[in-house]
Amino acid sequence: MADPDVELEARLAEQDSFEPPADFVEQANVTDPDIYDEFEANWPDCWTGAADMLDWNTEYTEILDDSNPPFYQWFADGELNASANCLDRHLDERGDEAAIEWVGEPTDEANRTYTYQELHDEVNAFAAALRAQGVEEDDIVTLYMPMIPELPIAMLACARIGAPHSVVFAGFSADALATRMNAADSEHLITCDGYYRRGDPLDHFEKATKGLAGVDHDTDTIVVNRLPDADSFDHDLSAHDTYADLVAAHEGETVDPVARNAEDMLFLMYTSGTTGQPKGVKHTTGGYLSWATWTSHAVLDIKPEDTYFCAADIGWITGHSYIVYGPLALGTTTMMYEGTPDYPDRHRLWEIIEEYEANQLYTAPTAIRSFMKWGEKYPDAHDLSSLRLLGTVGEPINPRAWKWYYQHIGDESCPVVDTWWQTETGGMMLTTLPAIGEMKPGSAGPPLPGISADIVDVRGSPVGAGEAGYLVVNKPWPGMLRTLYQNDDRFINEYWREYSQVDSDDSADWVYFPEDGAKLDADGYFTVLGRVDDVLNVSGHRLGTMEIESAIVGVEGVAEAAVVGGDHEIKGEAVYAYVITEDGYEENDTLRDRIIEGVEDAIGPIARPEKVVFTPELPKTRSGKIMRRLLENIANDDELGDTSTLRNPEIVDDIQRAAGDD
Ligand code: WT7
Repeated sequence: MADPDVELEARLAEQDSFEPPADFVEQANVTDPDIYDEFEANWPDCWTGAADMLDWNTEYTEILDDSNPPFYQWFADGELNASANCLDRHLDERGDEAAIEWVGEPTDEANRTYTYQELHDEVNAFAAALRAQGVEEDDIVTLYMPMIPELPIAMLACARIGAPHSVVFAGFSADALATRMNAADSEHLITCDGYYRRGDPLDHFEKATKGLAGVDHDTDTIVVNRLPDADSFDHDLSAHDTYADLVAAHEGETVDPVARNAEDMLFLMYTSGTTGQPKGVKHTTGGYLSWATWTSHAVLDIKPEDTYFCAADIGWITGHSYIVYGPLALGTTTMMYEGTPDYPDRHRLWEIIEEYEANQLYTAPTAIRSFMKWGEKYPDAHDLSSLRLLGTVGEPINPRAWKWYYQHIGDESCPVVDTWWQTETGGMMLTTLPAIGEMKPGSAGPPLPGISADIVDVRGSPVGAGEAGYLVVNKPWPGMLRTLYQNDDRFINEYWREYSQVDSDDSADWVYFPEDGAKLDADGYFTVLGRVDDVLNVSGHRLGTMEIESAIVGVEGVAEAAVVGGDHEIKGEAVYAYVITEDGYEENDTLRDRIIEGVEDAIGPIARPEKVVFTPELPKTRSGKIMRRLLENIANDDELGDTSTLRNPEIVDDIQRAAGDD
């Protein structure tokens, strides 16, 4: 007998484009296909629609100031407060509705719901506490916390008093925390005692304390007590204030949201680049918040009455824009969960969606590939019919995974938006609009209305349809980064090229380079191929090869190292390290373990090498540059191509053999 699932799968495998589902279109936020032409014709005025989704203390009069490119300014004479936009303005109508639904990992622990009123009150109390602690407007506050409600509360409390936050992903190491606090001259840290991940409580405070020891200036620290007494570690917190004490001491206080200039910094987010030093991406209050809000509305189709679930971590930009700022600015219910999708079992996400009747799910291809590997029996065991839209972000999604997501999670009735964007762009840039664009698995889609993107060759000339080249953005947009913190030169050098006037459009001469390769289809859809710089994308997380290499070279017994990305079924890319040992050190498992430990200490477990290959030499060009492409080919068992420019071509066989050995 024919298995309907198998038949369906065979049909889907053949199909390479999908129309937006009719029921979805019927109710969608954005449905008029003319939006593309209208935005183009009215650029940059088209962005008033996004800005006008927010409440402004002082209305802006100028939309774009492009007098000093690439230091563009948006809505620059306007004033607003992000926390007021995410909280206060919803109180009248939605004060009793849930703002945040939080699901902790231990199943015997109560979940938490924060209504808008409750969230408002706690943010106010904590903002008052921060002020009393001496946090002033423009002080950068570092938040080193996992997925607990106190993280978005602290973000909003900072925003309320005009103190930019710098969230450091909780999975990052002590060293990574210190590097970021030093780079930002951040004197305030908010962290927690510990948290749950796959059952056991993790000691987070110990890591934070180790990190603080590496900070080169005075700091004060506030600690959130996340763990119950039974699970808590014996920390000596006497030198620090605890979050609970501070909130209790300031309970009932209100703090007037500080009117921030639109161009004032809302937050910094450190991300990896080609050098060892992470880049402090600066986002603003007006442009960023408009962007996060408008894209949440137009692409994720969020409505105030929705329960929206983005399964990312707030420690990355996805969580900033699409767990906290965008959804809360729209007054919806945003979900947060602690832990992982496979603990206590692989039903976790589907249980959450079923229980809370989530309407959207936004997650990464890595996660989808894991779900696919685990099998549909897990999602099939749950009623997921509340879902209306699915989204993916972080890396290219292979058509098979896309179709699995569409079929088994979305039941063929939810559009899938494959959203390409970056930490630097603040929010989505390339994606179909879910009620308008035909979906093509594997291809993110066209640029959003008002976004002008292209694919160019090394000289900056557009390539033909079907050809690969560098993805570029030709015009500024409100959500764009404004600079790299205290490093305008690096901002210009890494992202912008100035081209001489090629046409009459005078805003097109500064071009933004995201450092991604892409291919443009005849219908204007962009297929993103991956990074073109020395940055890896492991499970949707960006890691600089240089950062990992310098961690490895810091390990005793290592002389030299080169790190490249190897293809990985689930993670997309995995870290492959080629290592030369120092004389007198043996190439053995002990050294291999120390190398892995070294990387975990310097960056965190996400950067852990999948494979460490010992080699007597690295393949180098005559000018002494490591030929990474070749190492990548070896990692992936690909054709090696031309090795004639190598100074040491004979080494290739040795490395191949060594790589094959383990
Ligand atoms: C890099 C940015 C965007 C938030 C999470 C990652 C890759 C992102 C896609 C996509 C193909 C994608 C790019 C980009 N990327 N989304 N839909 N298809 N590639 O933010 O850490 O700043 O990384 O992620 O290579 O440059 P990030």
